[in-house]
Amino acid sequence: MREVAIIGVGMTRFGELWGSSLRNMFAEAALAAIDDAGVDHIDSMYVGSMSSGLFVHQEHIAALCADYLGVAGIPSTRVESACASGGISVRQAYIEVASGMSDIVLAGGVEKMNDGADATFALASAADQEYEAFNGITFPGLYAFMAHAHMKKYGTTLEQIADVAVKSHAHGAMNARAQFPFAVTREQVMNSTLVAEPLRLLHCSPVTDGAAAVIVAPVELAKQLGKPIVKIIGSGQATDGIALHNRTDPATIPAAGKAAQAAFAMAGLGPDDIDVAEVHDCFSIAELVVMEELGLVERGKSGEMVSAGETRLGGKIPINTSGGLKAKGHPVGASGVSQLIELTEQLRGEAGERQVEGARRALSQNMGGSGASSVVHILEAE
Ligand code: COA
Repeated sequence: MREVAIIGVGMTRFGELWGSSLRNMFAEAALAAIDDAGVDHIDSMYVGSMSSGLFVHQEHIAALCADYLGVAGIPSTRVESACASGGISVRQAYIEVASGMSDIVLAGGVEKMNDGADATFALASAADQEYEAFNGITFPGLYAFMAHAHMKKYGTTLEQIADVAVKSHAHGAMNARAQFPFAVTREQVMNSTLVAEPLRLLHCSPVTDGAAAVIVAPVELAKQLGKPIVKIIGSGQATDGIALHNRTDPATIPAAGKAAQAAFAMAGLGPDDIDVAEVHDCFSIAELVVMEELGLVERGKSGEMVSAGETRLGGKIPINTSGGLKAKGHPVGASGVSQLIELTEQLRGEAGERQVEGARRALSQNMGGSGASSVVHILEAE
């Protein structure tokens, strides 16, 4: 396999983008990534999208996005794996370049969620239709189950779960591309509207429009471009049962752990080697469980770690410096790609106010549904 680098990144602002369509958003992000890479063509592309059909009644978007980008003729493939679509789109591009099949591949993600569709209905289609959605449970409810399980098993407190959102909003307040670029207090989180007990509005990622894209290429080509080199040194993907009630322990997300183990094994590294991470905090409890699955903290201790400030900028391992899905926003098909953009900028030293000093190695974790698909990447600055 060839060594692979991310050579270009680009994204739209995340939020309610009423003036931009799905194809416009994708083209904006893709052109920014191509421009950032400084390349004059791409050999192939991937488009991550969870549910363009339900959100904007448009399927067949791989060809649509290639055409609108002005590159019709090249191979373009849609990737769907619920909210992990973006991260898996990058993994597909990575595999294509590593194998030698192509040299310059664009991996993007896009979702237009605010265009009149019933977002809750569309999102719930990523849960088990027969056993979960049919009975009326949606994702806030499923993650509320996870929260109860974690609180019961480990004594995790409502304050600790709130502190995840406080930390992410503190980071998001420094990100001009975030949907909610403002800080919140623990009291505001704990007094916000109840959505699915114990989860409140400020524990939830929002409904977001946005697109993100990266360009991947062999490291040798990256060197010729004269940019800081950000290598993909580990990539892991795993699956699990889609229905949460079949999980032996609902306080866990085993696919996240398996994907991380595969990525760490490929990179020859462990959790202690990571300087900064972007993880899938679709609900605050998800960030706590994922931290444990990744091995960043002992099981049951993630709440304490967050409340001690160890995952804030300046802490032991800053998590979700972008603001995470919570504050930056969660255009489901694009979120996994945007995580890699934040980390690439961190490793290039271009993260401005959010810069983690001396960051050399970074980890992204993206997942779908209540964790039935998960993908982890490890990046390293050369
Ligand atoms: N965090 C902070 N503020 C939020 C928010 C969020 N997640 N979602 C909405 N808001 C704000 C809006 O900006 C709006 O503020 P305003 O009154 O100042 O304009 C207000 O809350 C009401 O917004 P509205 O769009 O009516 O909220 P809603 O009740 O329809 O939706 C949720 C709120 C939490 C139900 C919705 O954001 C949601 O479903 N989130 C989860 C998405 C999800 O499941 N993703 C997949 C994960 S697997």
